[in-house]
Amino acid sequence: MKPVKLETNIIHRGDCREILPTLPDECIDLIVTSPPYADRRKDTYGGIPPDEYVAWFLPISQELKRVLKPQGSFILNIKERVVEGERGTYVMELVLAMRKQGWLWTEEYCWHKKNSYPGKWPNRFRDAWEHCYHFTKQKQFKMFQESVMVPMGDWAEKRLKKLTKNDLVRDESRAQSGFGKRVANWIGREKVYPTNVLHLATEVTNKNHSAVFPVELPSWFIKLFTQEGDIVLDPFIGSGTTARATQNLGRKYVGIEAKTEYVTLANEELVSQRKLLEKAHDPYRAKERTQK
Ligand SMILES: C[S@@+](CC[C@H](N)C(=O)[O-])C[C@H]1O[C@@H](n2cnc3c(N)ncnc32)[C@H](O)[C@@H]1O
Repeated sequence: MKPVKLETNIIHRGDCREILPTLPDECIDLIVTSPPYADRRKDTYGGIPPDEYVAWFLPISQELKRVLKPQGSFILNIKERVVEGERGTYVMELVLAMRKQGWLWTEEYCWHKKNSYPGKWPNRFRDAWEHCYHFTKQKQFKMFQESVMVPMGDWAEKRLKKLTKNDLVRDESRAQSGFGKRVANWIGREKVYPTNVLHLATEVTNKNHSAVFPVELPSWFIKLFTQEGDIVLDPFIGSGTTARATQNLGRKYVGIEAKTEYVTLANEELVSQRKLLEKAHDPYRAKERTQK
């Protein structure tokens, strides 16, 4: 029998294939994770060969589907490597297999690693982006688009100064995408909706884990798909980045990590962040600060 109560703000140490089945049904609002990518090298964590990846991941995604609330979202950050001069296909195969499992492939966001330095191989250039697949259980899911709006940008002043006749009416997309626009709608606004490309620098300061994502990545999805008090799960939490993003935004986290050293690292970082947050919210200190 599944437990009825979920413990939150905890990082479980162990294999997510064993820990996920101990979580109650439909208790999670958002899953954000970056699992080990397929690799032939056994010395990397995971080390799941590309041709076994889908079979390895499907029982995990089945459990993720069970624990996710009906209106919840699942963000999967992943990237296929190049093996012997050819891109792997396991990520595409995984998306198709997850659709068969009952997931909806609702959207794909692109994480552009804006600090990537240039580089080339004989047949390609440097990888500077990764997939962030957005899966849901149904077409209606929780989404708070206003929470990720961005400043209008420099284009507005020049573009909105002199409006043409077409700018005053809704101009339907010529490509029939259904995304029409009425440029005049942007007059007087300070913020606009972002695109589905996230321009974020990679994490360069965390030397204790080799594959961290920047805290801004989970933070962006947490703001977009959850509200304060909601519960965010990362079944491959590594150094705890998703938990720190969650704690900082006033949500609750559930993390799972197989390696003890990373669980220790994550918990240490969470404690120091909690102390900083408590200091920032301490009314006595706040008064002291305003008096300075
Ligand atoms: C790509 S890293 C995640 C990094 C994380 N996003 C961060 O910012 O630190 C994947 C993590 O999954 C862990 N891992 C691999 N297999 C696992 C499993 N079966 N259950 C739980 N954790 C696992 C690895 O030890 C590794 O820390």
